Amino acid sequence: MPPSHEPLSAESIRAALAHVPFVREVVYLPSVGSTNDAARELGERGAPHATLVVADHQTQGRGRLGRSWYTPPRSALAMSILVRPDLAAVHVNRLTMLAGLASAEGVQRATGLPVKLKWPNDVVILKAESGTLKLGGILCESAITGEKVEYAVVGIGLNVNVDFDDQPDLDGLATSLRLQLGRDVDRLSVLASVIERFVMRFAELDHGGDLCRAWSRYLVTLGRRVEARSGDEVKVGLAEAVDDDGALLLRTGDGVRHRLLAADVTLQT
Ligand code: BTN
Repeated sequence: MPPSHEPLSAESIRAALAHVPFVREVVYLPSVGSTNDAARELGERGAPHATLVVADHQTQGRGRLGRSWYTPPRSALAMSILVRPDLAAVHVNRLTMLAGLASAEGVQRATGLPVKLKWPNDVVILKAESGTLKLGGILCESAITGEKVEYAVVGIGLNVNVDFDDQPDLDGLATSLRLQLGRDVDRLSVLASVIERFVMRFAELDHGGDLCRAWSRYLVTLGRRVEARSGDEVKVGLAEAVDDDGALLLRTGDGVRHRLLAADVTLQT
């Protein structure tokens, strides 16, 4: 078995993160329904801030809006970081910004690929013609007490060595680092690089730093004409900016500027 396809282990993850003191506990699961669910259960049982849950396989990986997330054995990165941030509930979307930014920066540093983000939570590669291919995604889920975030589960899924031969539904929509680079990629080095950036950006968040500016630079959505779909509601307009809490500011043809907190966005040509 090539090293890139060997199972991960708690020991190998700890060794890869030896230089990152932030991570307090590593929980490795060979196979699990969803690492977000496992991390939430740990959160409910009082697990400490900065507990990292990593799985080699998810049988019920979840994406945004109730979608499923494909995590075949030993080829993807599926991880959830349990954090107990000092953060007001109104700012909870900042964790999605943080995780997206850390993923783009981390993958780019580990592989040299020009990774981008598509609002609100997609990690993407730009297609040659136009549009994007999804390389990963972020799913943040939080427990709120009063006006504060009690804990949050920051889920990150990255298609490292995944191929989609048996996933015709994802044809033309998804990609992986291996498909982009034409070679296998070491999952542990991607994991370590993403967590390093996560730790750096988390410290900035803790000190009231401006994540929005750095996040904006990776967003392919900005300055583009987009279609934003939320349930039955569709808005088409110019994606002008994002604000400090990650909302998209979309100017429609009638001149009205809308503040969108969640939607499915398609870039128009
Ligand atoms: C999306 O693009 O809609 C978000 C995908 C998030 C997938 C990750 S994989 C690790 C964690 N566990 C899950 O079940 N989902 C997230």
